[in-house]
This record gives sequence, structure tokens and C-alpha cells, in this order.
Amino acid sequence: MKKYLINPNQKLSKISRDIYGHFSEHLGRCIYEGLYVGEDSEIPNVKGMRCDVVNALKEIRIPVLRWPGGCFADEYHWMDGIGPKEKRKKMVNTHWGGVTEDNSFGTHEFFELCEQLGCEAYINGNVGSGTVREMCDWVEYMTFDGISAMADLRRKNGRDKPWRVKYFGIGNETWGCGGHMLPEDYVAEYRKYETYIRDYDSNKHIFRVACGPDSDNYHWTEVLLQKAESRIEGLSLHYYCGPMNHEGDRGHATDFDADDYYGTLKRSEKIEEILTRHENLLDHYDPKKRIALIVDEWGAWYKVEKGTNPGFLYQQNTMRDAIIAAMNLNVFNKHSDRVRMANIAQTVNVLQSVALTDGEKMLLTPTYYVFKLFREHQDSTLLGSFITNSKVGGEYNITKFYESASLTDDGTIISTIANTSESEGETIDCQIADFRISSIEAEILSGDMNDHNTFDDTENVKPKPFTDFTVRADGFTAELPACCVVRFIIK
Ligand code: AHR
Repeated sequence: MKKYLINPNQKLSKISRDIYGHFSEHLGRCIYEGLYVGEDSEIPNVKGMRCDVVNALKEIRIPVLRWPGGCFADEYHWMDGIGPKEKRKKMVNTHWGGVTEDNSFGTHEFFELCEQLGCEAYINGNVGSGTVREMCDWVEYMTFDGISAMADLRRKNGRDKPWRVKYFGIGNETWGCGGHMLPEDYVAEYRKYETYIRDYDSNKHIFRVACGPDSDNYHWTEVLLQKAESRIEGLSLHYYCGPMNHEGDRGHATDFDADDYYGTLKRSEKIEEILTRHENLLDHYDPKKRIALIVDEWGAWYKVEKGTNPGFLYQQNTMRDAIIAAMNLNVFNKHSDRVRMANIAQTVNVLQSVALTDGEKMLLTPTYYVFKLFREHQDSTLLGSFITNSKVGGEYNITKFYESASLTDDGTIISTIANTSESEGETIDCQIADFRISSIEAEILSGDMNDHNTFDDTENVKPKPFTDFTVRADGFTAELPACCVVRFIIK
């Protein structure tokens, strides 16, 4: 039995809704087919955006979408993606499969998608192969309401009013595919580019995100903070997990055993250490916690599904991924004093997706349902909470329970718990300080670690009402099965 304490008197940071954000790149079938099918498609769509995927994303209250990359962002020239589609320049998507990109999904289409989703836009600019002028023109095109060459061009292309750009990323992985720069080189580029990201409407500030480290590259973070702390608002961080054997083989998404399962979870739980060590550096240079940590790429990365283009990064998604999502989201909640946005990679058909498509068919993955269970945390207040934990997975030594609790504006407590053990359930005895419970509703996502949905069986893994608990005035006792994610709504 584990003791679980929630303290509503200990109100911590606000859990930004943007922690529940997504990432969509011109990669494989994420944008084309996954989100955008074109107006002439037989797949039901509104202005080219497929309705099933848009509705599913609205249901999990997608708060923000990052676009156009990823590595693609640093070879994307936005002007190629505006104006009449038949005249748009074609390019080779050199990073992702060498396919021809026809630029039929560009700036106007991206904002149309955000408007349909009701989410904020996070644009990633091109530092690797672009210019300051190109980036500066893009910002003017998107956000300037007056008379100027770029605003006039936008109007000529059918959009009168500017759009709102909440976040703007200055380069992507500039330590790798975005230019292979040294931190000293990038920070000089950052200072220059950032200067020319103009706020054309003082009420609509564009939040600048500097390209931060690859996972545990603390040196990168330190150089950026030493040389540009006062000019940075958000610092990005990328961290992927997945099994990796000595040959560099990433392992398969559905065909794995308990050893692979715990090996992947081991890599996943490293996120906590990585966040903590970057946060320690941030606390040193920015003790007032002005700078946000933006985990704008995270998730599990496996071998591609057999018979698919290796450059398309298409993988299935199981209960293992649901556990990984729940571990990460609980950790992000707990670090929400610094982590103010996160974007799972990637929304549809690429890496740890929430939806997969096959022609007109769509399935929702176990990861999708974790976002659905956790959606009530968006914009709530993190509460102090603690569980008497233990370890599972033998030598992998994985923390058994990942949890977080928050308080919504109407005084409801949301608690989400993941049991990482693939074989052992356990009783949880929860006590809530100074709170009289009138009702508890709960939902559970559970199954065997390899369980997943297929296009022939889309309902194999989905949340169900959870009733295996008894309520007291000041808490509850619940019987949690192995490999599960549970959400309690406590009033
Ligand atoms: O998400 C896939 C790729 O992973 C992105 O394009 C890149 O930023 C990262 O290396």
C-alpha cells in the first residue's frame, strides 16, 4: 500500500495550458495527409483540414501548435508557401525522405488550421539557411496591421487582418541540423535575429524562444545564459527517449518485451534530471524565473513501421507510450514554475503521435487518451503532493508511481497517477489536507504494455470509468492495476 498526500494549502505554480502543446513538421505524413488533405479530397475537410483529426485535437483542447519544423524549419523559405498554389515553388525535403514539398500548406493554411483548432501559433523561424531580413519580413507579413510591403502582400493573398503569433522560435537545433553551430556562434546569431523580431502591436507581444540544448548539454545552456540572458524569454529543450541497443537500433514500437519496456522508461525518466539541471543554471542566471523552459520536442522514438519510408518516422503507439506521456506530463506539471510550454513530437503520423491516419481512416492512440485525461490540469494551480514510492523493473530501478495534483479555478482537485509497473498493481491510500470531499469521479486507461489500437480495432485501448475506490471525508483508497494511468476529479 502506498500513502498519497495532496495538500490544497500548498498552492505552487500555475500549470500553463501550453504544456499540453503539440508539434507539426513537414515530415512524412504529419502535415500532408495527417492534418491537411486539400479541399478537393474525398476525406471530409474544411478548407483542406481533415475534420476527424481537427475534431479529435479540439477534444483534448490543444492549446498551441508548433510549425513548420524541426529540421525542416531551417530550410523553409516562407515566401515559397504563399500566393496561388499552382505557382508555389517546389522544393526537396532533404531531411525527411528527399520527397518533393509542393508548399501547398504554407502560412495561410497554418493559421487556418490554428483557427479551426482554436489554438495559439508557435512559428519556428529559419536561422540555418535563412536571413535576418527573411525572418523579419515574415513577422511583418503575419502580424502588421498597417500599410507596408509585407502587410499589403498578405492582403493581396486574401488575408486582411494580421494573425496572432504567440511564440516565435529563433532557429531549431542550431547545434545540429539547424547549422551545426557552436554555442558561442549561435548566441551571436540569436542576439542579432532577436533584435528584428518586432512587436507591431504592443498589446500582442511575440514571445521569443532561443534554441536551447540537446537534452543534457548543460554547456550550451550556460553559454546562452552568460551571453544573452537579458534577451531570452524562452529557452527550448529537446529530449527524446526510446530503447537503444549497442548497434544503435531503436527497437520496435509494438513488438517489445519487459526489458525493452523498462529500458525505454529509464530513458524517459531522465527528463526529470535534465530539467532539474537546466533549471539550476537558469536559477543562477535568472533567479526571478523570468525565462521559461520550453520543451518543444519530446516523446518516444522507435524504428519506423515495416514497409514505410525510413525518412517518414511513422511508428505505432502502445500503452508503453501512454505511460511515457503520463510520466512526462506529470513531471512537466511539477516543474511548471519553469516549464511553461511543451510540444509532443509529433501530432499525427510521426513519432509519438496522438492520431494515426490511413487514407480516410483515423485512430486515436493511447497517448491521445493521456492528453484527454490530463486536459483538466490546463491553467490550474499545481498543489503540493507526495506519494511514498518504490522502484520497479529490476536493475532499471524505475519509480513506480508518477503523479501530480492541481486545483482548478472552481475549487476542484485534479489528480493524475501513472503506475509504471507492467505487472504489479497496488493500493493507494490518499489523504487530502483540510478538504471535505463531496464526490470523486475517475477514469482509467490501462492494459498490457504492448496494447494498442489498429485501423481494424480502433477501440482496443481507451479510457473507461474507474470505480475501484472507496471515498472517505478526507480522502480515498484506490486499487490501481498494473500499467495504468488514472485521473481523479475530486470535488
Ligand atoms: O521530430 C523529428 C526531428 O527531431 C526534428 O525535425 C528535429 O528538430 C529533431 O531532431
